[in-house]
Amino acid sequence: MQVVHSSAALQEALKGKSKIAFVPTMGNLHAGHIELVNIAKQHADCVVVSIFVNPLQFDSAIDLEKYPRTLEADCEQLEKAGATIVFAPTVKEMYPDFDGKSLHQTMTITPPPIADMLCGASRPGHFAGVATVVAKLFNLVKPDIAVFGKKDFQQLMIIRALVKQFNFSIEIVAADIVREGNGLAMSSRNGRFNAQQKEQAAQLNQVLNIAIKTVKSSQSDFSTIEKQTAKQLTKQGWQVDYVSIRDALTLKPAQQNDMQLVILAAATLANIRLIDNIEFCAKPLN
Ligand code: PAF
Repeated sequence: MQVVHSSAALQEALKGKSKIAFVPTMGNLHAGHIELVNIAKQHADCVVVSIFVNPLQFDSAIDLEKYPRTLEADCEQLEKAGATIVFAPTVKEMYPDFDGKSLHQTMTITPPPIADMLCGASRPGHFAGVATVVAKLFNLVKPDIAVFGKKDFQQLMIIRALVKQFNFSIEIVAADIVREGNGLAMSSRNGRFNAQQKEQAAQLNQVLNIAIKTVKSSQSDFSTIEKQTAKQLTKQGWQVDYVSIRDALTLKPAQQNDMQLVILAAATLANIRLIDNIEFCAKPLN
C-alpha cells in the first residue's frame, strides 16, 4: 500500500491502474469505513482511499479542530483491509487559495435545494463543502466507481446529483449502515462517548425503529409520529435537531401514498451530534 500526500504523487501512483474504486473519508476510521473498502475491493483491483479533514464542510471551527486525526492508525487498518493507495493531502494541496476561514475565498459548488433541508438547514454551507471536495477528489483520483455509506443518506443523494449534473462517469455504490451490537450506527464521533453514553446513544436507533412500527401499524399521520419520536428523545436527554419521515427517492416530506420511505434523525447527546436513518416500505394501501 502506498501513502501519498500530493496530487503529483497520486498521479504517479495511479499510473497503469486500469480500474479504480474510490472510498473518500475524513479518517479516524472504524468498521463502517473498512466495510466501504471491502465493497470497493469487489469492484476493482485498485482501491484508493482518501483521508482528508475537509475544512470547507465544517460550520464550527471548534468542531474542525476537535476532529480526530489518526493517520498512522488509519493506514494500519487500511493496509490490513487491502487498500492499494491512501491519498492524504494537506489543506494547502487541496485549496491553494483558501484562507482557512471563509468558504467564499475559494470557488465552490452550489448543491441542489435538497441540501438546504434536514442537516443542511442546521449546518449552512456543509453540503457545498462536501460537494466541492468530492468533485475535486473525483477529478484527482478519476475513479470508475466510488463507495459512500448510507448513514449520510442526504449526502449520498447530493453526491448522486453532483455526478449527474457535472457528468462524472463514476458509478456510485451505496453501502448499508454498519451498526454496533446495540444498534448504534458506527461513526467516528462515537469514540468521544464514554461507555455509558455509548449505550445511551443507541436510543437514537431504537426510537426510529419504534417510529417505523407505529407508521406500519397505526392510523397516526407522519407529522404526529415525528413529533412523538422527537419528544421521546428529548425526554431521554437528547437535544433534537430533527426527526423526519421522507420519500426515500426524493427526500421530500413523505405523503400517505409514498411506498419507499426513510426516517432520518439528527440529535445531540453529551455535546455530540449524531445522525441516523432507516429505510423502510410503507404499509400496503387498503
Ligand atoms: O462522509 C464523509 O466522510 C465526508 O463528508 C466526505 C464524503 C469524505 C467528504 O469530505
